Amino acid sequence: MGSLFYLRVNDRLELRQRAPEDAEELFALTEANRAKLREWLPWLDACTKVEHTRANIESTLRQAEAGTGLAICLWHDGRIAGVGGYNVIDRANLTGHIGYWLGAEFEGRGLMTAANRALVAHGFTTLGLRRQTIAAATGNVRSRAIAERLGFVQEGVLREAEMLYGRSVDHALYAQTVSDWARAGGGVGEGAGSRPVPRAMGVADLREALALWNASEGMGLSEEETEPVLAFFLARNPGLSAVLRAPDGTLAGAVLCGHDGRRGFLYHLAVAPVWRGRGVGRALADFAMAGLRAAGIARATILVYADNARARGFWDRMGWAERDDILILQARP
Ligand SMILES: CC(C)(COP(=O)(O)OP(=O)(O)OC[C@H]1O[C@@H](n2cnc3c(N)ncnc32)[C@H](O)[C@@H]1OP(=O)(O)O)[C@@H](O)C(=O)NCCC(=O)NCCS
Repeated sequence: MGSLFYLRVNDRLELRQRAPEDAEELFALTEANRAKLREWLPWLDACTKVEHTRANIESTLRQAEAGTGLAICLWHDGRIAGVGGYNVIDRANLTGHIGYWLGAEFEGRGLMTAANRALVAHGFTTLGLRRQTIAAATGNVRSRAIAERLGFVQEGVLREAEMLYGRSVDHALYAQTVSDWARAGGGVGEGAGSRPVPRAMGVADLREALALWNASEGMGLSEEETEPVLAFFLARNPGLSAVLRAPDGTLAGAVLCGHDGRRGFLYHLAVAPVWRGRGVGRALADFAMAGLRAAGIARATILVYADNARARGFWDRMGWAERDDILILQARP
């Protein structure tokens, strides 16, 4: 057997390939979290003894030798905090499918996001993957938030994708391609590097984005601007809307963007007052426009209140031309 995968994420967190000697501690963590894990993972009833964990580790080692998977444990301060890695690596198509779970006492500290950020970088560089995916039950909001924080874009909903103890659930399918990853700074974005960069907006961002838009002067939100409607908008327009988060995790700015196959639209670009004048608005507009360009859309439109002088000055600086020969008409279908 070759040497086992090992990656140091930071002073306190390491990723180590799962090895037979981890079985006792990993089974104890599983035992301690059984009820919580059973909510979203299908295999708990088949893992009731340490031998089951050991057998699973051995099968993941054979899988790793064949290059078709990579199972890791997250080690936090020398203790196993959870598991992660690639459940599937498809060598022919250069894709990897990520799976993970964390013990309850290790939640809420960004461990899984940091671990996955390092794993995703390993996948796109050392393993040469072109596409990485994460699937989470649509109701599993915490897991979806991790995918979204990593800049994965929801590509759709896989209906009736999994049976969980007699209950059928749909999966939200998230993906990141190597070019998405490079466009977002190669993993040095949000929280990791000194220059915050935008990432694709996900459903977990909507509440804060709505709060930002409601608090921003010069913007009008209509009654259809609700979380479910905007989630539908994001699913129809994968990877075009963006958020930019400050190093402390707060929302610095957000923009909605979509297209109808022909023309692109930007809506609701807003930057929190303390973050204005630092290039956040430009970075968000550029992210949206780059996405439209990549989708083959040649022209984009934005509606601006005529009396919003700041926004008009900003869009003029961004190179957008005002049209005074068009009226906007609206009706209810
Ligand atoms: C408009 C808004 C998004 C701009 O965000 P921002 O982060 O401050 O803008 P940036 O710092 O990225 O500015 C980018 C460039 O535009 C210029 N700019 C910004 N506001 C400008 C203005 N009012 N007039 C002229 N130029 C302006 C900046 O000087 C900068 O120029 P540079 O890159 O050449 O140095 C922000 O002011 C905002 O959220 N306003 C309230 C919400 C709103 O009206 N949104 C627009 C809805 S259509």
